Amino acid sequence: MARALLEGVGAYLPRRIVSNDALAERIDTSDAWIRSRTGIGARHIAEADESCAMMATAAARQALANARARVDEVDAVIVATATPDQTFPATAVRVQAALGMARGFSFDISAACSGFVYALSVADGMIRAGQARGVLVIGAEVFSRLMDWQDRSTCVLFGDGAGAVFLRAGAADDETRGILSTHLHADGSLGDLLYIDGAVGQPDRPGTLVMNGREIFRHAVVKLASAVDEALAANGLDASAIDWLVPHQANLRIIDAMGKRLALPPERVVVTVERHANTSAASIPLALAEAVADGRIKRHDLVVMEALGGGLTWGSALVRM
Ligand code: UT7
Repeated sequence: MARALLEGVGAYLPRRIVSNDALAERIDTSDAWIRSRTGIGARHIAEADESCAMMATAAARQALANARARVDEVDAVIVATATPDQTFPATAVRVQAALGMARGFSFDISAACSGFVYALSVADGMIRAGQARGVLVIGAEVFSRLMDWQDRSTCVLFGDGAGAVFLRAGAADDETRGILSTHLHADGSLGDLLYIDGAVGQPDRPGTLVMNGREIFRHAVVKLASAVDEALAANGLDASAIDWLVPHQANLRIIDAMGKRLALPPERVVVTVERHANTSAASIPLALAEAVADGRIKRHDLVVMEALGGGLTWGSALVRM
């Protein structure tokens, strides 16, 4: 079975940056509250021309360039998003067309903030099964278009952006690199803790985000820890083997708790939440792209990724870069 090698990463962040202070001019909140409760200082917000597909395509192009891969090496495009521009066709086929791909297949995955880990897992399975040799895995979100901008308990938390990785099939006997394992979970009985209260199927309710933040926080700390433990156990590894934690970026307090639990020094945890806020499925590939671009994460480093989001969905991935 081929191994899925993570060959290149890419990112796109909208041009417009909105600070906490700018939000505090419009709603009853403050920079101090947002920072102390979440670690967020600012977020990027998409303008009209920055669609989900446009951002996904920009991130994908960069991932291909960094992998030194040609478009004709891509067999599949998978986009994790909760905020597609259209219900269908999938954002992924828009990306396929924009890249000029003449073949292959493309589809979206809906797993909210866990979407990137889910998409990575599906891509890994396809590469192991021999169904594809080159796969673009993208997380792209425009949550700003889903927010109730009068609800201070949610609108301060999210931002827009896209991140992408290009995976290529490597030799089966190459143990030195690649996705070692992914672990996925969902518990639909907890679906009402974080959801969009509408959809196109409900014409009078396009939907905005609703969240029970306190309960999500409680589940996140427990479930993310167990997903990481599961990843380490499945590979016979100890936490001391981890070089980098690249977590979903929802709340600095959750990220810090995970880092401490793994006994990782803070400089081994990639944190972007201060500048990006929560970009849902885009947050992990955005953080990964930043840490690879600035030289922190290097080839052969062991990276653990974890995420939890609406569903509830959660999971982890262990990758030798
Ligand atoms: O990515 C998907 C996964 N999502 C998460 O992981 C999010 C997990 N949850 C969280 O990050 C945190 O629960 C929040 C950041 C959402 C909230 O922090 P919290 O410490 O749980 O605060 P809270 O919801 O318990 O609210 C505390 C107080 C409330 O006032 P009272 O009732 O105590 O008087 C809120 O009304 O803070 C108030 N509040 C605000 N105040 C100023 C809520 N939002 C704001 C705000 N500015 N933006």
